[in-house]
Amino acid sequence: MNNRFAVILAAGKGTRMKSDLYKVLHPVCGKPMVQHIVDQIKDCNVKKTIAVVGHGAEKVKDQLGKDVEYVLQEEQLGTGHAVMQAEGLLREEEGTTVVLCGDTPLLTKKTIDALLLEHETKGAKATILTAKAEEPTGYGRVIRDKDGAVNKIVEQKDANEEELSVKEINTGTYCFDNKALFLALKNVGNSNAQGEYYLPDVIEILQRDGEAIAAFQTLDFNETIGVNDRVALSTAEVLMKRRINEQLMRDGVTLIDPENTYVSSDAIIGKDTVIYPGCIIKGKTIIGENCEIGPHSEIDNSKIGNNTTVKQSVVHDSEVGNEVSIGPFSHLRPQTKLSNHVRVGNFVELKKMSMGEGSKASHLSYLGDAEVGDNVNVGCGSITVNYDGKNKYLTKIEDGAFIGCNSNLIAPVTVGEGAFIAAGSTITDDVPGQSLAIARQRQTNKQDYFKK
Ligand code: UD1
Ligand code: CA
Repeated sequence: MNNRFAVILAAGKGTRMKSDLYKVLHPVCGKPMVQHIVDQIKDCNVKKTIAVVGHGAEKVKDQLGKDVEYVLQEEQLGTGHAVMQAEGLLREEEGTTVVLCGDTPLLTKKTIDALLLEHETKGAKATILTAKAEEPTGYGRVIRDKDGAVNKIVEQKDANEEELSVKEINTGTYCFDNKALFLALKNVGNSNAQGEYYLPDVIEILQRDGEAIAAFQTLDFNETIGVNDRVALSTAEVLMKRRINEQLMRDGVTLIDPENTYVSSDAIIGKDTVIYPGCIIKGKTIIGENCEIGPHSEIDNSKIGNNTTVKQSVVHDSEVGNEVSIGPFSHLRPQTKLSNHVRVGNFVELKKMSMGEGSKASHLSYLGDAEVGDNVNVGCGSITVNYDGKNKYLTKIEDGAFIGCNSNLIAPVTVGEGAFIAAGSTITDDVPGQSLAIARQRQTNKQDYFKK
């Protein structure tokens, strides 16, 4: 096995995005473009992955973390100049360096593997990943001689009429012999339409030196699209969504309306789960088998068990058990933990709290900073009063307690096991187990008041 290294170009500003967010950080199906690429290259047996950062370097580093090494390109003088920055980390290495762009989010490990294999078996000094584009405008064109051998790549802005009519494009992904790459880069100049040091010029340099150049054409242009503006971003979004949704369906998930279902590429969904239209499933969400999700639910970074229903609800950073019923119109905010057989109904908001097996809050409640035991019934309109304007306090409701409708539980407070709170109570003191607490004024009826 050859030594393999990867360089990911991620230093550009992305002027054409017209955005305060750096281009490679724009998300596609919820994940920044550059992260998509890093996730694909991770499993390609590379020894070192180097991201070239510049614009928004700190933000890109925050995103990619320790998965890659970094080199800084202080001034963005072109893709060739960008790769040069990795010389310090790669100069001594023998092997293959694959160069990828941070703005081609749809590229798959499968295609990168195929490119690497082609490069390593053919033994070329450089192998370009190319594709046939119906609409090649904007891409570099692959110029071949009459025998079909690759001569060079010409950028859109430098191309003549004849070159512009070529439909085979440079995808911006290449394999190089590492040593040959850095030698050739020294000879790349910047006398071109953009005044930049172009990485693709390495091809012509190597070719003129009599080195073997190969091109590997992928059949799926869609996989290689480079996202330079928001129009391409939306195309990438549609294609990525389709890819993710098709895979889910092949894995046994029913999507009632795949065009209107948005699932992150990091989500895992079990078989026989049905997703209704308008759902957005984000982050590293895990949903079990045989669940019913939606319509119109947003689930972010949460874990949901089996046979659970989530209707028209929002669930963030929470954990939900099996056979739980959520919604319609519930809101689970971060750090909510629901055990099996819990029911949370209309207009119930939960935050940093847990509910034990079989407990219910079926209507119009706010339960924040709370520990609710098993088989508790929280009546309609009951709330935990967890905040005094400065600090947050804990409410504990022990197993089997019954909280009558419209109760205020003023935290810190504990309602003991099997206790019963009369409807409309404002509970300020702990309630012992098995007792009844009434904390409201008794009703007085003034007889014949209106006759007088
Ligand atoms: C580039 C290729 C073009 C190819 C296309 C594929 C060059 C000169 N052109 O064009 O042949 O068809 O990709 O999508 O390479 N970057 C840096 N530092 C720089 C400049 C760019 O890190 O100084 C990064 C960008 O952040 C981006 C990538 O390199 O991730 C590509 O740069 P971009 O400006 O998008 O190149 P294209 O014009 O798309
Ligand atoms: Ca690009």
